[in-house]
Amino acid sequence: MKTAYSEEAVPRSSEGRPRLILLERDAAEGRELAAALGRRFEVRSIASVEECVRMLRSFNAAAVLIEAGLLNADLIPRLREVKPALAVVVVSAVNDATLAFKASKFGADDFFVRTESQGSIEAKLIAVTGALPIPPVAPRSASRPDFAMLFGTSPKMEDVKSTIDKVAETNATVLIRGESGTGKEMVARMIYSSSARADKPFVKVNCAAIPYELLESELFGYEQGAFTGANRQKPGKFDQADNGTLFLDEISEMHPSLQAKLLHVLQDGEFARLGGKRDVAVDVRVLAATNKQLERDVAEGRFREDLFYRLNVVSIHIPPLRERREEIPVFLEYFLSKYSDYYNKRPAPFSAMAIDRMMDYSWPGNIRELENLVKRYTIVGNEAQILRELSTHKPIVVSAPAIEQPAAREIAAGHTGASLDGDDQPSLLEIGRRAAMKAEREAIERTLLQTKWNRRQAAKILKVSYKALLNKLKAYEEQDGAAPGRAGTQGK
Ligand SMILES: Nc1ncnc2c1ncn2[C@@H]1O[C@H](COP(=O)(O)OP(=O)(O)OP(=O)(O)O)[C@@H](O)[C@H]1O
Ligand SMILES: [Mg+2]
Repeated sequence: MKTAYSEEAVPRSSEGRPRLILLERDAAEGRELAAALGRRFEVRSIASVEECVRMLRSFNAAAVLIEAGLLNADLIPRLREVKPALAVVVVSAVNDATLAFKASKFGADDFFVRTESQGSIEAKLIAVTGALPIPPVAPRSASRPDFAMLFGTSPKMEDVKSTIDKVAETNATVLIRGESGTGKEMVARMIYSSSARADKPFVKVNCAAIPYELLESELFGYEQGAFTGANRQKPGKFDQADNGTLFLDEISEMHPSLQAKLLHVLQDGEFARLGGKRDVAVDVRVLAATNKQLERDVAEGRFREDLFYRLNVVSIHIPPLRERREEIPVFLEYFLSKYSDYYNKRPAPFSAMAIDRMMDYSWPGNIRELENLVKRYTIVGNEAQILRELSTHKPIVVSAPAIEQPAAREIAAGHTGASLDGDDQPSLLEIGRRAAMKAEREAIERTLLQTKWNRRQAAKILKVSYKALLNKLKAYEEQDGAAPGRAGTQGK
């Protein structure tokens, strides 16, 4: 879930209302909901998926609301192919836990029922779009920051906490390292919110999500006439973050030509916009994160050594969850309470047996995986099912033969997660669809193993765009709560 900060310029109307697209086939229902949401959002209603995809290209929406009847496994990845950062919320006429579960599996950020109070619906939309600094549902005490970061009781995390406290008020560049899902972004936000720049912008850029041809203008902006179509000057993220903090996520994915430009800003506090004649001065604190062994990238010439040392002035390593197992019960309780409030459900606490099983599990997707599991448990309330998921979950960092397992066995066993309603007899069409999805996933996993997790190279081999591959990986991650695409550090 996104935290409540408004960074990354949430797409808004000219009067500042965040923009939404409502995908709803029933015109009357659509009008009613659009009118209700119109107070705080600028809403466009659309009746078909095709239209929605087209509109996404022209209308810069922060989120799409999808009528539950239109939901299927392909829809959300398709929308995110157009706009990777898109928030998606599923809207249902009835309060149906299976549906909420499905929505989460298919990649939705949240789910609401039409009959929910206006306030609750608005709060959910605000939380997923990150549009306003207000918490989702439960009010937080004034003394706590706007997002909650839990520091369990492990000595390793105490070290992390004490480093954060020490560096927060300095302007030092910090390199935050750790496997996928360990909380790197949380640490970045924590440093920011404890720093003297807390009331200034926090701007995040994911270097892996933006093709490198675009990343330069995204970061540094351009001058009017810099290239065909540059009709006016566009400020970059460095401009937006002036006096504030810039968080460069997945820094290892930055192209070497941009690495040089970044080094220049870090050293001299100046950069040139594309097509610009003069350097522009900025005062930006840079935080960077990576789940890669940057030293190896340096040794192999993919990452500039001078930039590495410049970024690495202070580095914080967040240990994987399996190295601080004592925190697992703490996290379980924390997320259970958080999502019970959020979904207004009261599932039973985890049994001692379940906690034992979870203590033994390796959590390749770290806290994110655990959080997603608790979220699903809160919605479904069936501990046995959650534990089954744990035992059938195969992290894709295992050796190749395990991946070769025939798809049919799992499909027959219903482990693809598409059917949760006790429907043991899927239709032929459904069987075919699941087999295709499974085969696709296996091909991706094999290729990633082959390329040693180089996703760009894998995309090339699979003849899909890099963005399409990232979307697939993201969908898998949502599906099983792990982070397969980014679990690359596991095997290293
Ligand atoms: N200490 C923590 N307390 C509470 N929640 C946490 C903590 N650490 C991680 N999380 C949760 O786990 C999820 C992953 O965290 P985050 O996005 O910061 O990880 P990351 O290291 O940036 O992952 P990735 O490499 O995949 O981008 C988030 O939903 C976050 O809320
Ligand atoms: Mg991250």
